[in-house]
Amino acid sequence: MSAQNDRSPENAQSARVRASLAEMRVDYSEVAGQHPDEPDLDVAHLEAGWLPLLRIWLDGAVRAGVPEPNAMTLGTVDAAGDPRTRTVLCKGVDDTGVTFYTNYDSDKAHQLDAHPAASVTFAWVSLAHQITLRGPVERVPAEVTERYWATRPRGSQIGAWASWQSHPIASRGELDAQWLAVAQRFAGEQVPVPDFWGGYVVRPVVAEFWQGRGDRMHNRIRAELTDGTWVAQRLQP
Ligand SMILES: Cc1cc2nc3c(=O)[nH]c(=O)nc-3n(C[C@H](O)[C@H](O)[C@H](O)COP(=O)(O)O)c2cc1C
Repeated sequence: MSAQNDRSPENAQSARVRASLAEMRVDYSEVAGQHPDEPDLDVAHLEAGWLPLLRIWLDGAVRAGVPEPNAMTLGTVDAAGDPRTRTVLCKGVDDTGVTFYTNYDSDKAHQLDAHPAASVTFAWVSLAHQITLRGPVERVPAEVTERYWATRPRGSQIGAWASWQSHPIASRGELDAQWLAVAQRFAGEQVPVPDFWGGYVVRPVVAEFWQGRGDRMHNRIRAELTDGTWVAQRLQP
């Protein structure tokens, strides 16, 4: 890539964006994507736990055309006790928890295996909705991974075999060569599930729902699983 002239229009535009960061703000009293009749989020909405309202908000995000509405930020803790985050796609939501799939030899997997707890956050910013869930994490049974694997496009299946996720590689060319080698290896046959790949389920014990409102007076309700019962309370925003 050639060095860019400092006075290029691109750089002037980028400088303007940086200068205006402090000015960027949304008035959540008039969020375009949020249904105008949406009721104020209340403690009563979480008395049955996190699942019913998560489903309603996820459906709303799909209906509103939010890109990748199942994307969520996954937070883990590493061996030094430092936080790590990255985006993963939620591939299942039910009373067992929230499921995603990954490489069992990735950084996140090593962190989860050593410290099996995680936090996930869905942020549907255009709807002024955020949900954070936290709880213990388990690998999903192999047959659950098998069922999901069968729905993946062949190219993605090959990609899972071809990428030793989170490990360095010298070049893009080498990565592409690994993909081609796997494609040749499985030519004419079904691509099996790698033994180093599968799902994790986060089983929420704490859930926090956030709904944007005007003047930064947002609605924030936290529910905690206490002696087998969900107990919800309102938090100051
Ligand atoms: C929109 C989006 C969706 C992603 N979905 C997944 C996913 O479902 N599983 C996954 O392993 N990585 C997914 N990634 C890549 C991860 O964010 C991350 O780069 C990768 O898993 C390596 O993380 P780790 O080194 O912390 O293990 C996604 C990234 C983006 C931006």
